[in-house]
Amino acid sequence: MGVVGLGTMGAGIVEVFARNGLDVTAVEISEAALERGRVTLTGSTDRAVAKGKLAEAERDALLARVDFRVGLDALHDVDLVIEAVPEHLDLKQRIFAELDRVCKPEAILATNTSSLSVTEISVATSRPNQVIGIHFFNPAPVMKLVEVVRTVVTSADVVADVEALCERLGKVDVTISDRAGFIANALLFGYLNHAVGMFEARYATREDIDAAMKLGCGLPMGPLALMDLIGLDTAYEILDTMYRRGGRDRRHAPAPLLKQMVTAGLLGRKSGRGFYTYERPGSPKVVPDEYTPPAGDAALADGARAIAKVGVVGSGTMATGIIEVFAKAGYEVISVTRGAEKSAKVCEAVKTSLNKGVVRGKLSETDRDAALGRITWSATLDHLADVDLVVEAVIEELSIKKALFASLDEICKPGVVLATTTSSLPVIDVAMATQRPADVIGLHFFNPAPIMPLVEIVRTIRTSAETSATARAVCATLGKTGVVCGDRSGFIVNALLFPYLNDAVRMLEASYSTADDIDYAMKLGCGYPMGPFELLDVVGLDVSLAIQRELYLELREPGFAPAPLLEHLVTAGYLGRKSGRGFRDHTRR
Ligand SMILES: NC(=O)c1ccc[n+]([C@@H]2O[C@H](COP(=O)([O-])OP(=O)(O)OC[C@H]3O[C@@H](n4cnc5c(N)ncnc54)[C@H](O)[C@@H]3O)[C@@H](O)[C@H]2O)c1
Repeated sequence: MGVVGLGTMGAGIVEVFARNGLDVTAVEISEAALERGRVTLTGSTDRAVAKGKLAEAERDALLARVDFRVGLDALHDVDLVIEAVPEHLDLKQRIFAELDRVCKPEAILATNTSSLSVTEISVATSRPNQVIGIHFFNPAPVMKLVEVVRTVVTSADVVADVEALCERLGKVDVTISDRAGFIANALLFGYLNHAVGMFEARYATREDIDAAMKLGCGLPMGPLALMDLIGLDTAYEILDTMYRRGGRDRRHAPAPLLKQMVTAGLLGRKSGRGFYTYERPGSPKVVPDEYTPPAGDAALADGARAIAKVGVVGSGTMATGIIEVFAKAGYEVISVTRGAEKSAKVCEAVKTSLNKGVVRGKLSETDRDAALGRITWSATLDHLADVDLVVEAVIEELSIKKALFASLDEICKPGVVLATTTSSLPVIDVAMATQRPADVIGLHFFNPAPIMPLVEIVRTIRTSAETSATARAVCATLGKTGVVCGDRSGFIVNALLFPYLNDAVRMLEASYSTADDIDYAMKLGCGYPMGPFELLDVVGLDVSLAIQRELYLELREPGFAPAPLLEHLVTAGYLGRKSGRGFRDHTRR
């Protein structure tokens, strides 16, 4: 094997080959760069030894398989060479022309490009039929996926050889044709760029954007931490190429901040500073800097009002979960529904859920009884006259929520925080239905509320600092991570998640790949807990379409327009698991 360029990706690819018993010639442009590559490789293998994942003897054997060399001439004898130099077409074309000259005639020439055209790279050689894309994911030794990119001239033998190689390396490959961003990056980079845009617009802090996506979607890293891992220079080039090659979708036009950061040398982990600051260049360890929020409850409670008694209005899934969360955290709770029958049902549901906690050993019987004892069941809003916080979780209809908030305004004592759990309506609309918009805020819990660790705290332009501080302090006492954001459609999580899901539907609609391969790509290449089609079927296609429509209506971004296939499936009654069929048929499983 030959590997050209030992940066973020190249050094990892060398490790993957050598770990699997292949001899590697590892090539860099200069002695200094070669040394950096060597340090990266030994650092990574030493960590594996320290973690007990690799024996010392195995590490020594692995390192002995790698021949570090300066200059492409060292590659004259390899069977396959993979190039991992910076994402510039002219540079890659120059290297391929040179490889064509140096390598033996039967050698396969592969590129690890993320977004450039493999076809355009291949025509710089006299053997385009032996040129192929082998796109590893970062970090290469960890991520299971490899995208194998076949151009219209890549020969079938070469594709088969590379697929066999992937299998030998213990990777899962998806073979696809040559399109900007292939599967994973085409779906990932619009999302990453959008997250950078949110940060740039001060819509939310870096910590809150990242926490929202980790805790709200179960992603292994937040988008800004991931940008730092990818490298901001590489990310910029990928976005720039995707913008030009992928139909000038504005969502791929690199956020202006990226260019500034790259120019300033803030490249992410590799330079020791990007969106976050790292212990030293190349280190994964984040250290505090001037933007790190002060830790501890003292900071959270700054200006917060005391809350002891909480009213929860509603009788659905969210209200039920929220009642349980507050009661378990020691708050006195008044549940208000539209009738005794509904109250009885909610009470039953809360009991069932608490009992489950007891059976699983997560809650003692005493604590369960105490939690139940703290809840008062009522069918009259008047009982909310002396609560300190009201959480509204009624049906998602603006007119109903507005009427409710107008009533709360009349009933509740002054200084009460009035919160709505809406997931799609503007909080400011609800706030303006009262005479006290400064006390109104969004508390967007996730389903199921007792389990999901995230709450989006939605501040309108009228919300007071005191109200925000109170909401943050309350979330902390509930054991939830509260992330603060502005009052825009989709808040943080849905605004970043649903356009990605919609893009996956478009990709399927364009027959670029299959639902299975797209799901694999996101799970194995990016560490998502579920692929986009699995998730769409769980969330419900109708719900997803409604959210996507809202986002499109608010931002008028053409790229956010709901995918026609999504609309058709909803019209056809294919709503996902709940109707037995969505992108997949669930009746036969
Ligand atoms: N960073 C990621 O997360 C990621 C993931 C998958 C694929 N990729 C792709 O992998 C490729 C490399 O990206 P990276 O992030 O590793 O970049 P990088 O900047 O970390 O590393 C590039 C390396 O190439 C070396 N180099 C430059 N010119 C060279 C030459 N003429 N000969 C030999 N070596 C040379 C540089 O010294 C550097 O060490 C790009 O095409 C990128 O799109 C990146």
